[in-house]
Amino acid sequence: MRKIPVTTPYFTDEEAEEVKKVLDSGWVAQGPTVAKFEEAIASHEGVANGVATTSCTTALHLAMVASGLGAGMDAIAPAFTFVATENAIVMAGATPVMADIHQETFNIDVDHVKRIIENDYDKKDGKLINKKTGNVLWGIVPVHEFGLCCDINEINKIAKENGLKVIEDAACALGAMVDGVHEGAFGNPACVSFHPRKSITTGEGGMVLTDDEKLAKRMKELRTHGSTVSADARDKGHGFLLPEHNEAGYNYRMTDIQAGVGMAQVKKLDDIIETKRKRAAIYNKLIAEKLPEFITPLEPEGYFHTYQSYVCMLNIEKLGIEDIAAGGKYRNELLQKLEDIGIATRQGTHAVHMLGYYRNRFGYKPEDYSNAYACDHLSITLPLYMQMTDDDQEYVVDTIRKVIDER
Ligand SMILES: Cc1ncc(COP(=O)(O)O)c(C=O)c1O
Repeated sequence: MRKIPVTTPYFTDEEAEEVKKVLDSGWVAQGPTVAKFEEAIASHEGVANGVATTSCTTALHLAMVASGLGAGMDAIAPAFTFVATENAIVMAGATPVMADIHQETFNIDVDHVKRIIENDYDKKDGKLINKKTGNVLWGIVPVHEFGLCCDINEINKIAKENGLKVIEDAACALGAMVDGVHEGAFGNPACVSFHPRKSITTGEGGMVLTDDEKLAKRMKELRTHGSTVSADARDKGHGFLLPEHNEAGYNYRMTDIQAGVGMAQVKKLDDIIETKRKRAAIYNKLIAEKLPEFITPLEPEGYFHTYQSYVCMLNIEKLGIEDIAAGGKYRNELLQKLEDIGIATRQGTHAVHMLGYYRNRFGYKPEDYSNAYACDHLSITLPLYMQMTDDDQEYVVDTIRKVIDER
């Protein structure tokens, strides 16, 4: 059976060579190769500092804690995202407040963010206080979903007007841009992921990108148990003295082995993004010709989409399906049939308000975030990866056509 994965990493001999160098050096925990990898990623994105971590989830948590998020605080995040966005807010001891998204871009609806601030918060002593819970609104955690930046300029404006912090969840968006500016260079810390489903991978791994030197220093301390070199040791140059620990930090250290893989991967990043953009354009064309039941992903003017994932929406009107619930049922049948044939596809991501923990804790109903609900039920990620061929793409689209026709 012909097998097409939804994605697969792109490795050559270089990754193994870089890892061998690390192993030969004897320094395998966080060390010089992590520092080199941080510099390589930060300089690719045009940002002063990179702080590598074990994952994007821990990068988000680290950036949030270092930016003052904690108990008694709210953070606004989109309702359609991987659950890690909201989970990181919960890990920081704070409360996620969800905003809906746009179906066309899968990104946060800034007008909904404005309405939440206007309707659900009172301004007191320069702070926004949640009318129901008394929590202070700390900030916004927008997501650059599937490799397309959100309307970050508008988010920054709202944040500035209301004295809020912004941490960008750029897990999927390494290399993405708005008007030629990369994620991480929009004035906020941005967190990227190196999970194997992302453009480049270190197995697991993440990084916070920031121009803020003080914040970078604090995050570097917090990621290694809150460790600082004591003033005394620094003065006297006594390398054998243990560091000082003024805060209860974490172990969020990436290994030099992972960073070795990353050093080989970062050299491929531009090529991978260019290839995926070319393949996305091929899908757009094939789908326009053969699959009117699919709505292709949007790349608004001025935006540079990296197509970490190529996510379409099912057009239920064209399919003659009456509502989103029935559309979701049909989408799942379609995904199953494709899986049985050997083509791996996936739902875009979750509507987080419909996931057990959030549903039970906050009593959400599907319609509370209607666009997130629709995208949860109707989104379809098509296979997209570096090694894909024109023929693979045609086979995917033709097979979907056949499966729909057999309905
Ligand atoms: C939007 C978003 N945020 C956060 C994460 C978490 O990334 P990681 O798996 O590196 O922790 C992901 C991973 O898929 C994601 O898509």
